[in-house]
Amino acid sequence: MLLLAIESSCDETSAAVVRDGRQVLSNIIASQVDVHARYGGVVPELASRKHVEAISVVIDQALETAAIGLEAVEGIVVTRGPGLIGALLVGLSVAKAIAFARKLPLVGVHHIEGHILAPLLEEEVSFPYLALAVSGGHTHLYRVDGIGRYVLLGRTIDDAAGEAFDKVAKMLGLPYPGGILIDRLASGGNPEAIPFPRPLLHQKNLDFSFSGMKTAVLNYVKKQEGPIQGDHLHHLAASFQAAVVDVLCQKTLRAAEEQGLGRIVVAGGVACNSGLRTRLHALGGEKGLDIHFPSPVLCADNAAMLAVAGDCYLRAGISEPLDLNALASWPLDRAGREKWHPGEAKS
Ligand code: KG4
Ligand code: ZN
Repeated sequence: MLLLAIESSCDETSAAVVRDGRQVLSNIIASQVDVHARYGGVVPELASRKHVEAISVVIDQALETAAIGLEAVEGIVVTRGPGLIGALLVGLSVAKAIAFARKLPLVGVHHIEGHILAPLLEEEVSFPYLALAVSGGHTHLYRVDGIGRYVLLGRTIDDAAGEAFDKVAKMLGLPYPGGILIDRLASGGNPEAIPFPRPLLHQKNLDFSFSGMKTAVLNYVKKQEGPIQGDHLHHLAASFQAAVVDVLCQKTLRAAEEQGLGRIVVAGGVACNSGLRTRLHALGGEKGLDIHFPSPVLCADNAAMLAVAGDCYLRAGISEPLDLNALASWPLDRAGREKWHPGEAKS
């Protein structure tokens, strides 16, 4: 089955053609980063407008790269939520229009569902597994028992890890989105130079907190005389990153142990972080765990990742009415239940 997938939940407009929910024929991503960088973060209204400008071009490119015409597409999968409501509506409206015009089945997928199933586009990962979804809006641990079968185990009680990376980068005068820049700076620094706190690390639950860590960096920066630069900047980036990575790794390993899971998937934009990749592979390797990170292009926002779930739902005969609404906030476990047990989730 050939699916056209469309993603527009935040600041990337993306369209992909995927065969049988596994083989990516194209995955076109138009980033709006340059537009938002001058404001230091995503401006929702601008994001919606840029999606409107880009969406048809991106879809055309996805079809062209896959060397197919629209008539070959057998179903449409789109991000229904969570995300910026205006941005989501652009992708959803186009998806509905194509589904209506071509009489194709349509299915709406949860953005994080896309992220945590993305490794299946590259390799076999059997269920159940533990998923750490770590992005600009999420830092959540899920038990994944199958497609649409997700159990929330822990989550951030304040900021997401990506948000903390971006805010710390901003404090240091780095452009948005700063996560990747902190990662680069960290590689030349000493991760033990500044002892930043590791919030909630020694609490038994599987929740995270990054707000205090961010404040600790702010207090440190304020105490310095003059700008932080040179080796000092590298040490600060390395120390902050080490604190985030430490908490993410320890909580993830604890969750795997508690749940008796031998496989871990890490997904979302922060899964690109080189410190997180190296440390989790090392710690997980020592425990004989099977660790999976998607390639960077499949970690960041992209449409291909939606096709894994989309293909499964459409094959099971699950499709959506054309009055489907977008959802700015939408718990993943509920989204999964809604698919397999529509009545139960509504109650
Ligand atoms: O999944 P994503 O592309 O969009 C959301 O759904 O949020 O994640 C974006 C987040 C941003 O906060 C960005 O700074 C962060 O992922 N990020 C990184 C790295 N690459 C992207 N954070 C740390 N290290 C990186 N290498
Ligand atoms: Zn994302």
